[in-house]
Amino acid sequence: MSSLSVYVTRAIPEAGIAALVGAGVRVRLNPLARSLRPEELREEVGRYDGVVCHLTDRIDETVLTAAAPRCKVFANCAVGTDNFDVAAAAQLGITLTNTPDVLTEATADLAWALLMATARRLGEAERVVRAGAWRGWGMLDFLGVDIHGKTLGIVGAGRIGTAVARRAGGFSMKVLYCDREPMAEIEALGARRVGLVELLETSDFVSLHTPLTEETRHLLDENGMRRMKREAVLINTARGAVVDQTALAEVLREGRIAGAGFDVYENEPLVPPDFLALENVVLLPHIGSATLATRSRMAEIAAENVIAVLRGEPPMNVVTE
Ligand code: GLV
Repeated sequence: MSSLSVYVTRAIPEAGIAALVGAGVRVRLNPLARSLRPEELREEVGRYDGVVCHLTDRIDETVLTAAAPRCKVFANCAVGTDNFDVAAAAQLGITLTNTPDVLTEATADLAWALLMATARRLGEAERVVRAGAWRGWGMLDFLGVDIHGKTLGIVGAGRIGTAVARRAGGFSMKVLYCDREPMAEIEALGARRVGLVELLETSDFVSLHTPLTEETRHLLDENGMRRMKREAVLINTARGAVVDQTALAEVLREGRIAGAGFDVYENEPLVPPDFLALENVVLLPHIGSATLATRSRMAEIAAENVIAVLRGEPPMNVVTE
């Protein structure tokens, strides 16, 4: 494949580059420490046979049109595919791939960490210590909410939602879930399927795990949030736009729910200023899959997907509508 070349839109772990180079592909890496702007991306993509890209790259019809006819594949280093225009790619004969499975456990670990941090007010407590403002132990200080024995509501019982539900078993939690159809794997863990409204009204923790689609955009709106228990905690490690952030800021400010933990935002890297002003919100910078082992394997899988397409073989993870 020595005459083939692949563009990598932003730095990836060395394992991914090594996989491409090992397959005899010439690699060109965006040298900037930022994602390319759409016009920069359009300028690059048509010169390569394949592209390894990221969830921060909007691979829309204009980019795909600029990539064709030479470029045959865009491989996302992510499980989410809401940055892809799948229909346009199909029309242009460009294959889109993603990296499911490999990041399930790391992302579920992070969702669980965020759940615990939010329930027990870790962000707020650490800020006090770091500010040198801790005056010693106090019985009434930093009172959070219990996790063990409570009810966890999983919205979207795919791989990651199910892996989060599995962790709840260690905390003797009751698990509810909602999804378009019954999901055998989560039910085998003892989870019960309910409608979204019942889940919101009865869960102590609500954790979002749906992909972002037209159907799930602002799935959790003001009406839904106001159905949640006052002591409930909301966790979002899916996509920011699954939640109406403006409504959530209002609900949190009013103390209508106990807190929220966010790893994702509607317009990243913009974090709603209202969230920053609230103590009962734990804010992370989209790090769900961010372990060295997981990110390295994601990069390798993206590279393997590109190599397969360029060899005329079926890639492992094709994204279709
Ligand atoms: C991360 O958000 C991913 O989709 O992999």
